[in-house]
Amino acid sequence: MFVFQDSYQNEVHLSFTNDPFCLNPKHVWVICRYKDQWLLTKHKERGLEFPGGKVELGEKAKDAAVREVMEETGAEVKELIYLGQYKVLGRGKTIVKNIYFAEICSLTNQTSYFETYGPILMQDLPESIKTNNEYSFIMKDDVLVHSIKQVEQLLCER
Ligand code: GTP
Repeated sequence: MFVFQDSYQNEVHLSFTNDPFCLNPKHVWVICRYKDQWLLTKHKERGLEFPGGKVELGEKAKDAAVREVMEETGAEVKELIYLGQYKVLGRGKTIVKNIYFAEICSLTNQTSYFETYGPILMQDLPESIKTNNEYSFIMKDDVLVHSIKQVEQLLCER
């Protein structure tokens, strides 16, 4: 398990085991790959980030992951793999988020991308995300660093 602080100095607990903090997390985050590129979205307020969001009432976390990817990028998930989970101990409340890896099979233009400007494809993620204002705060702590390592390992094993 990893413990560190996020960019707001909230404590974050991260683990790549099965449901370490909660069986029914209310949030999901999806690291997406399409045609050997990273697929991100541009949130209207937060900036560049991997897609994700809240699990709706009665919805399963993995279904929320597939739905959020479609809503925020127009991408269809071919394969969704659970990677891990993290817990953020915020000032007001604690949230738990599942992390997934998604292989995307198609990208379709949409008239709306909900609270985002839609898909952004990137060959490489820049080194300087932590200090880059274009990126969302959810990309600025060690959840991203550790999760990308997990994905790279997964891609190597294929
Ligand atoms: P609602 O008012 O219920 O919509 O909640 P909210 O808009 O305050 O946000 P949410 O419930 O998504 O998250 C609550 C707090 O948790 C945020 O203000 C962040 O501080 C923190 N948080 C949410 N997601 C993440 C994340 O992916 N990483 C980190 N580090 N913090 C997060």
